[in-house]
Amino acid sequence: MTSPILSVSNLERRYGDFIGCTDISFDVWPGEVVAIVGESGSGKTTLLNCISGRLDRSSGSIRYNMRDGRFPDLADLSEAERRFLMRTDWGFVHQNPADGLRMRVSAGANVGERLMAIGDRHYGEIRNTATEWLGRVEIAGDRIDDKPVAFSGGMRQRLQIARNLVTRPRLIFMDEPTGGLDVSVQARVLDLLRGLVSDLGLAVVIVTHDLAVARLLSQRMIVMKTGRIVETGLTDRVLDDPHHPYTQLLVASILES
Ligand SMILES: Nc1ncnc2c1ncn2[C@@H]1O[C@H](COP(=O)(O)OP(=O)(O)OP(=O)(O)O)[C@@H](O)[C@H]1O
Ligand SMILES: [Mg+2]
Repeated sequence: MTSPILSVSNLERRYGDFIGCTDISFDVWPGEVVAIVGESGSGKTTLLNCISGRLDRSSGSIRYNMRDGRFPDLADLSEAERRFLMRTDWGFVHQNPADGLRMRVSAGANVGERLMAIGDRHYGEIRNTATEWLGRVEIAGDRIDDKPVAFSGGMRQRLQIARNLVTRPRLIFMDEPTGGLDVSVQARVLDLLRGLVSDLGLAVVIVTHDLAVARLLSQRMIVMKTGRIVETGLTDRVLDDPHHPYTQLLVASILES
């Protein structure tokens, strides 16, 4: 594909008079991982929720390259089309797995539900695919009938990842996907994510305040401060040779801690 999968132009989101994010323009290319970094309150989640259609924008355009070749603004899709995108072509991995899982239905059903949403009806096949995906996120097959409430934080997060990836989406949004996990558990989830993203050739927009996560997963980085982009570039370049004083401060503060 020679065009971006997602194209954001002059995006702004206000909360009353307060600016959540503004003057945001960037493209995401197929198979590319873009990290959005910045301090708490810099507008990362606001931006992510706008571009994933979960939050209304105040102005600007957000266009998505559909599988059928159309490249519409999300605002011009019907509600049904938008919902279908969210269930199929897109994934959203929340920081808190409880926000992205149904905690009181089985692990297998959490994964199978997304398959049924795209029309799979054969119970045996759905169960087989669910078992295969639990394996891919390193959850033992004999836990398929257990509910996520009985899982550890790391397992819940891996289940949320399986639930998102089972429909073979092309674009995944993630908000601090390892932010709620113990440091020891984070590494394993990150490693798993990195493998899956590269195996499946996924495009990802990941929000994180953790520059090590950005370094590990992303090729390109967007640095935000008070709702605006202050620097963008290849992740290695931004981290090794930050141009903007704010990025220099961010990088320096990590090195010191
Ligand atoms: N619903 C809301 N109503 C009013 N202001 C909001 C709302 N949501 C966010 N804001 C404000 O917008 C700014 C950006 O918030 P946002 O949640 O996008 O930041 P963030 O970069 O994701 O921060 P964090 O790293 O803490 O998650 C903050 O100043 C926040 O207080
Ligand atoms: Mg946030």
